[in-house]
Amino acid sequence: MKPPTQLNHPPVIEVPADNRPLVAPVHQSVKFEFDSVAEALRFFRGERAGFYYSRGANPTTRQLELTLAQLQGRDDAIVCSSGAGAMSATLLSLAKQGDHILGFVESYPPTRQALKRMLGKFGVRHTLLPIADLAGVERVLREQPTRAVVFESPTNPALRIADIAAITRLAREHGALTVMDNTFAGPHQHGSFDVDIFTHSLTKFAGGHGDVLGGAVIGRRELIDSLHADFTLLGGTLDPHAAFLIQRGLKTYFVRYRAQTASAQRIAEFLMSSPAVERVHYPGLPGHAGHALARRQMQDFGAVLSLDLRAGAGAAQRFADALRLFSTAASLGATESLVVPSQMLGHNDLSAEQRAVAGIAAGTVRLSIGLEDVDDLIADLGQALASC
Ligand SMILES: Cc1ncc(COP(=O)(O)O)c(C=O)c1O
Repeated sequence: MKPPTQLNHPPVIEVPADNRPLVAPVHQSVKFEFDSVAEALRFFRGERAGFYYSRGANPTTRQLELTLAQLQGRDDAIVCSSGAGAMSATLLSLAKQGDHILGFVESYPPTRQALKRMLGKFGVRHTLLPIADLAGVERVLREQPTRAVVFESPTNPALRIADIAAITRLAREHGALTVMDNTFAGPHQHGSFDVDIFTHSLTKFAGGHGDVLGGAVIGRRELIDSLHADFTLLGGTLDPHAAFLIQRGLKTYFVRYRAQTASAQRIAEFLMSSPAVERVHYPGLPGHAGHALARRQMQDFGAVLSLDLRAGAGAAQRFADALRLFSTAASLGATESLVVPSQMLGHNDLSAEQRAVAGIAAGTVRLSIGLEDVDDLIADLGQALASC
């Protein structure tokens, strides 16, 4: 072989089957070859195991899919290149022209936009209700056949708690599937509820370090199987290296999640004591409207909270600018603390009335609590409140 040929056929280093690496290797390969065409055909007929092309399946992404399915208490999962991609592909795959989907005013803005803009273009209709309007959910499901109910809990940014048992029961009674974006709670929570499909942004708590985008769809086997062909066509596959980073992030998931939750609880209690703060939204506070429901539904209340500053939008902006340990940046759930004032919260498609339903006031500020020392964070919040 001449050098250019050698470089393209490097020596294969075999690892003996009884000498496994403790960390699974990253299978950074698009293609997997077979020893013969006959073996490839056996694979296509489902007569043997293997991999063929990484847009459909890859050992590294597969390990992450099975880890997440186990954590969420379901049979199977598909990982995607982002959380928004996981939701869009799920909705595109489930709905057909003329279908109706029930969503909620408080949902993550790109989910609403997927319903309004993308599915609307294909003749899929939708209704948006406040997440607390269970009578409305029952009425809409009774009045029109509905393909899916798409919801979140806690909601963003007001941390409203959806009554998961009631929503899933009503959906089941009326033949609608439930799709729950479980990003804020994380894949260790809500698994005992009768949710058909969970979606996640793995960019948040699962990856945990703010250095990788990813998403997942998790559910029982036949539902995941039914989504697989469309997901492979849409092509929003997670790259194996991204899957490796998320798999590594998951090793410290519980330690991070619980430390961040404990800090969020202390910070929420601290903020309650400030005269500049009109309201603190955190499900771990006994005064939060969804506290009792959250206690029944959640093991951990999470690391995101929001506050309403009495002095409005100007104060929210000054507060964010005055914070030294909180970066003004999108996203949540990673090791660093983040702040997003009302002006940057998105939700621009909502009317003033809908913004009020979603719990977004001029002085609203969302905080994602990281792994910094909580006393340092409280001191920083104290000085920023004093200066705004
Ligand atoms: C609730 C929720 N769902 C989905 C997403 C989208 O995730 P990604 O950025 O990975 O597309 C986000 C991102 O902020 C989110 O907060």
